[in-house]
Amino acid sequence: MTSADGLFVSAPAKVNLCLHVAERRADGYHNLESLVAFAVHGDEITLEHARELSLSAVGPFGAMLPPDNDNLVLKAARLLADKVDRPPSVRITLRKNLPVASGLGGGSADAAAVLRGLASLWRLEIDRETLMGIAALLGADVPVCLDCIAAWTEGRGERITSLSPLPEMPLILVNPAVPVSTAEVFSALDARSGLRFVRPRAPFCDPHALVAFLHSTTNDLEAPARKIAPSIGDALEDIRDMPEILIARMSGSGATCFGIFETDESARSATALLRERHQEWWIVNTAIVPERIGAPTALQ
Ligand code: C5P
Repeated sequence: MTSADGLFVSAPAKVNLCLHVAERRADGYHNLESLVAFAVHGDEITLEHARELSLSAVGPFGAMLPPDNDNLVLKAARLLADKVDRPPSVRITLRKNLPVASGLGGGSADAAAVLRGLASLWRLEIDRETLMGIAALLGADVPVCLDCIAAWTEGRGERITSLSPLPEMPLILVNPAVPVSTAEVFSALDARSGLRFVRPRAPFCDPHALVAFLHSTTNDLEAPARKIAPSIGDALEDIRDMPEILIARMSGSGATCFGIFETDESARSATALLRERHQEWWIVNTAIVPERIGAPTALQ
């Protein structure tokens, strides 16, 4: 816990390295299983003591956030404050580096980062289960973003099994500048793998072991998302053309695609080449991080 006036919290991008869809449930949602990893790149949040709750969004995608009432970051602050019976007084600044509605769980990562950060800023004696419960109320993807460590998720994404750290791997993220609606992608889904129960039981000893595992899996939402936004197919073909690519796939319900590379150098060159070809696309060179990231730090 800290007594700082303000804190910085990172909200790493969540990448679904695979995603299998099973049956539609009575509540309208589908059961899923997914290998979730976190990237170094993400949104950045500062939390400062203030008289009232406020949110300002800055950064490349700051203008695209939903209005106050639908904003997960504000909901997270209000829910946590209610739970511990205190006013939700905090000034939140969100640097939105991740594209919105892009399959990277940006909104969920932001909400989870706010919960982590406020527990520390407000010096709350709150146990992990309570925080997880609040996260689950905010959305199925929020609990896994609380810890920011690789996990196998089931159900709607809320049943989490933490995995041994993944090998550190060069990763690029490519979004062909189209926001995609998750609901539309699920509606366009006509082929599902169903649950394969392939949860990894042993640590992946190196990147090749992880990639071999991924080749035995799919993202079932890739085909329907490509029907809705054909530029996803262009992005995947372009990434697959790059030298030393180990695997390219879409994350979540899209449209962001990822590529895992053999070396940092090949990921850097691919990023430069793709940026030259597609100046309007969002393309970043990052990495899958093996260890936990996102712990709050005092503002300087
Ligand atoms: O998670 P979110 O509420 O954004 O999902 C939007 C829509 O996508 C849901 O209303 C549902 O139609 C569909 N969906 C689903 N199964 C999931 C997640 C989302 O059918 N596991």
